[in-house]
Amino acid sequence: MKLAYISDLHVDISQRNWELVPQIAEVLRIIHPDVFLICGDVSPELGDMEYALDCFSSLECHKLFVPGNQDIWVMSERMQEEGHDSYEKYYFYIPEVCRRNGFTPIWMEPVIIQKVGFAGSIGWYDFTLNHRDGDPETEDIRKSFEDEIWNDLKWACWSDISYLTESEPGPYRRSDREVSREFINRLDQDIKSLSGNQEVREIVVGLHHPPYSQLVGHLDHPQGDLYFPFLGSEEMGKMLMRHPKVNTVICGHIHEKRDIMLGGKRMLCSPVGYLSYQRRKDMSIVEDSLSVIYLFDEDDWLKT
Ligand SMILES: [Fe+2]
Ligand SMILES: [Fe+2]
Repeated sequence: MKLAYISDLHVDISQRNWELVPQIAEVLRIIHPDVFLICGDVSPELGDMEYALDCFSSLECHKLFVPGNQDIWVMSERMQEEGHDSYEKYYFYIPEVCRRNGFTPIWMEPVIIQKVGFAGSIGWYDFTLNHRDGDPETEDIRKSFEDEIWNDLKWACWSDISYLTESEPGPYRRSDREVSREFINRLDQDIKSLSGNQEVREIVVGLHHPPYSQLVGHLDHPQGDLYFPFLGSEEMGKMLMRHPKVNTVICGHIHEKRDIMLGGKRMLCSPVGYLSYQRRKDMSIVEDSLSVIYLFDEDDWLKT
């Protein structure tokens, strides 16, 4: 099985990011993979996501998607006050965009293709990767990111409707740790179901947030050794290690390419990221940011 994957298209970031999408589709037409997986961060605007996925809709392969943190942003305080939230995008609007454009939303519907199971999740974070003293969920630490690069604080909005039924007011948002745990449990269930299926020989997991510190490595940042707490979850990594059929994990979010082995599993990341002015002129961006791997297939063996 030929599996092509990419992440972090960020089509809203620059004209070059936007124009890159049809070029990626053209290359995919030549590569002709069996499966194409996008691991999140296309755009917070659903219209942009519609554009991006539509560019790939005529490709004759299985097309799979998991959302990234920027995809679930609700970028209007008024809409948030009216009750619109990230769950609504994650479980309803984004799956709709996927289905309209021939993509399977694998965090909602795991699939089996040629005896390979595919499951996925946004992942989220619980501050266990790149841990440093202090509680990252306190306002002080989180606020320091507000003017920096971290907009999840404002626009990621996981509502807790249980408070609406109680007499005490708020908080109406679930904590990042709770959200992370919920998505780990959900993915664990999906992987268990796939693992229990005799037909499934191996499982590929698509995530947005990386589940291992080894994947994060040393991230280049203009401020040097900046504390960067919004990376993923160790618990997610431990859960994946408990499933022997999971042999490939593909993630996004870190904007750096990765291909490493951990505990017998292959960990991959192949992002576009925020294209700098210099990078935008570079004609090899598609080549650099679109990756292909081959998974075991009975048909790969020569018949005797
Ligand atoms: Fe990203
Ligand atoms: Fe991200």
